[in-house]
Amino acid sequence: MTDRDALPSPQPRWDGLVLGASLATLDAAHGYGEVPDGALAWKDGLLVHAGPRHELPGDPAALADEVIETDGWITPGLVDCHTHLVFAGDRAREFEMRLQGASYEDIARAGGGILSSVRAVRAIDEDGLLRESLPRARALAADGATTVEIKSGYGLDFENERKMLRVARRVGELAGVQVRTTYLAAHALPPEFADRAEDYIDAVVDWMPRLHAEGLIDAVDAFCEGIGFSPAQTRRVFEAARGLGLPVKLHADQLSDLGGAGLVAEFAGLSADHVEYSSEASVRAMAASGAVAVLLPGAFHVLRETRLPPLDAFREHGVPMAVATDCNPGTSPLMSMRQAMQLACTHFRLTPEESLRGASLNAAHALGLHDRGVLRTGARADFTLWDIRHPSELGYWLGGRLARATYAGGQRIA
Ligand code: NIG
Ligand code: FE
Repeated sequence: MTDRDALPSPQPRWDGLVLGASLATLDAAHGYGEVPDGALAWKDGLLVHAGPRHELPGDPAALADEVIETDGWITPGLVDCHTHLVFAGDRAREFEMRLQGASYEDIARAGGGILSSVRAVRAIDEDGLLRESLPRARALAADGATTVEIKSGYGLDFENERKMLRVARRVGELAGVQVRTTYLAAHALPPEFADRAEDYIDAVVDWMPRLHAEGLIDAVDAFCEGIGFSPAQTRRVFEAARGLGLPVKLHADQLSDLGGAGLVAEFAGLSADHVEYSSEASVRAMAASGAVAVLLPGAFHVLRETRLPPLDAFREHGVPMAVATDCNPGTSPLMSMRQAMQLACTHFRLTPEESLRGASLNAAHALGLHDRGVLRTGARADFTLWDIRHPSELGYWLGGRLARATYAGGQRIA
C-alpha cells in the first residue's frame, strides 16, 4: 500500500446546504413528503441530500461551501408547463369588450383575438420582443418558477415564428429559468392564408424541420378547436412532429369536444391542455397512453367559463393533473404559478396538495422532464424557499409575496 492510498479520501464539499426549513419533497405517490427540520444540499447543479438534518453525514460547516440556516418551507421549483409569454402589447381593450358582451369567439372571428397579437409581434423587432417578454418570466421566477414552457404562435410565418422561439431561448438565459420551447404555428390562420387552411398546414409542416434544425423546438402543439384547426389538420401537424421525433401536446377540448385529448393519446403525446370538454373515452385513452391533463384555470377564470374539466374521471382513471398559468395576452394575463394554483383549488376544487404536485412534478412530466419537480438526491437543484407555516398556504393566499428565494440548477435566480 502506498502512502497515497493510506490518505483519507477528501470530504466531498458540496456547493450549498440549506438547514432548518421543512421540506415538501413530493417524493411519494401521495402527500407532501414532509420532512421537518430538513437539510437540502446540492453540488454541480444537482441535489446531493434531501432529508432530515440529523441524517447529514457530518458537521455542516465541513460539508458545504455555503451553509444557510433558515426556517419556512422548501418545495421543488415550480414548473409552468404552458405559457405564451413571448408576446407584444396587451389585449386589455378586448377584455373590456368581453365584459360588454362580446364572446372570445366573436372577437376572434372579427379579426381580433390571437390575430391582434400576431400584428403586434410582427411589428416589433427581436430585441423589442425580448424587452416586453422578459419581465413576465422574471415575475414567474420571483414567485417560485424554475422551468417555464414558452410557445410560439403569434408569428404565423417562418421569420416571426423563428423570432418568437429565439426570444424564448434568450428569455431563459436572462431570467435563469430553464425554458422549453413549443412550436405552435398551428394556433390561428394568418390573414395571408384566409380560406386556405390546408395550404397553411402545409407551410406549418414545411417550417418545422427548418426551425428544429436550429435547435428552436422542444415540442409541437396546435389549437384544435372550431376557431382553430380541425382534428384532421392537427393530425397532419402531429405526423410531421412524429417524423422528426418531436413530442406533441395540444390545446384540446377547451370550448367544444373535438376529441383532441384522444388524439394526443393516439400519438402518445405529453399532454392535453385545457380539456374542459374532454369525454370519458378521451380520459380513458389518456390514462392508457400516460398523457398528463394540463389544467389552465386562469383562462377558465378570465373567460368566465362554467364547464369544468372531467376532474373526477382524471382521478378515477389515474390521469396525472398539472396546473399552469397559460400566461397570454388574450385569455390568461397571469404571471404567477401560485395564483394558478389558487384558481385551480377555487374553481376546480383541487386540493392544495394536488395543486402543488400539479405545479411541479406533474408539470415536469407534461414537458417530458423526469429530473425535477421533486426534492430527491440526483434531481436537479431546482427549489423554492417560502415564508409559510404549511405548504397548503401555496394554494390559499391570493397575491402577496411568499417566495423568499428561488434556485435553479443550484444557482439563485430570484
Ligand atoms: O391557451 N386557445 C388558444 N390559445 C390561448 C389563447 C391565446 C390568445 O388568445 O392569445 C389559450 O387560451
Ligand atoms: Fe394556451
